[in-house]
Amino acid sequence: MFVDYKQTEVLVVDKWISLEEDENIQKAGMWISCGEVVALPTETVYGLGGNANSEEAIEKIFLAKGRPSDNPLIVHISERKQLSELVSHIPLIAEKFMNAFWPGPLTLILPKTEQVSEKVTGGLSTVAVRMPDHPVAQAVIKAAGVPVAAPSANRSGRPSPTTAEHVRHDLDGRIAGIIDGGPTGYGLESTVVDCTRDVPMILRPGGVTREELEEVAGVVEVDPALISDNEVPRSPGLKYRHYAPDAPLTLVEGSTAFLQEKIKEVEEEGLKTGVITVDELIQEIHADHVISYGSNDDIKEVAAKLYDTLRRADKLEADVLFSVTFPKEGVGAAVMNRLEKAAGGRIIKEE
Ligand code: TXA
Ligand code: MG
Repeated sequence: MFVDYKQTEVLVVDKWISLEEDENIQKAGMWISCGEVVALPTETVYGLGGNANSEEAIEKIFLAKGRPSDNPLIVHISERKQLSELVSHIPLIAEKFMNAFWPGPLTLILPKTEQVSEKVTGGLSTVAVRMPDHPVAQAVIKAAGVPVAAPSANRSGRPSPTTAEHVRHDLDGRIAGIIDGGPTGYGLESTVVDCTRDVPMILRPGGVTREELEEVAGVVEVDPALISDNEVPRSPGLKYRHYAPDAPLTLVEGSTAFLQEKIKEVEEEGLKTGVITVDELIQEIHADHVISYGSNDDIKEVAAKLYDTLRRADKLEADVLFSVTFPKEGVGAAVMNRLEKAAGGRIIKEE
């Protein structure tokens, strides 16, 4: 049954000191432990948290988001000792990753215990676990006293939220509360790594790069579906349309002159154009609307602003959207993964 919350309460937490005594944190923790769902900031994006031990809470998460039930959730913990109730066996490689990157934007896929509901794992025998590196997220998990299942706090298909306002836009009236802890840091979701294989495999690129993982593990594979359209992604969430603005978005790889040609072709059909570019090119491009992800020299800034920029692009009243592309190195790999999803694979390359 869908619960219609007359009002979604916004709980502001603006001082990250003595969080354990903060009334709003206590309230959010209590709501979660009682089976309500609350949006909370993490260092990647805002998550929609619910008690991972409560099937009712898990159902509320799926309903609020409009998320397909075969798309499993990440369980968030604040202490490693919580792993024993969630995970049946910790492979050595997973331990090395935890030592190197936790707390942080890395989600590990591990074999689940009986205790973890299949509602959380979408029927899989593995569970995704992450220890977030955000004081508010950590304090809420502690206050809840249970592991917290949390997908990104957007309506399914929309860009993930990087501010409390994004969450409110998507989920107002559908969840009990939102903790406003300001904008998130990375702006892209965590890297998801399957640690149940002989060689660990990246299922979703994110905040921790392949290069950083390889420093710890030697070889790390990448799900072939991230490279080829002919493969089915191993991470169920990646088969769905995602992050997409309402107007069709096309990625354009090539010179500014080439992009300008594409804009002109569309304008000649009488359509309004919107272009998402970088600060360095904003003056050079002529279209009905031109906005920027940030500086071309700072891919981390681009990542942090990516979803907000896609949401802004949605408000431009353009019929057609174009975006520049980025090199797929380091964090650029995750940025391009999200942009390719947002564009539904539409990409034009200059010869
Ligand atoms: O940064 C993040 O990871 C954010 C914050 C809130 O922690 N969370 C997030 O959750 O992005 P969500 O639900 O939007 O994405 C989780 C991804 C999905 O692609 C899902 O299919 C995958 O993780 N996943 C979860 N459990 C899995 C499992 N057992 N095996 C494979 N993929 C799994
Ligand atoms: Mg998501």
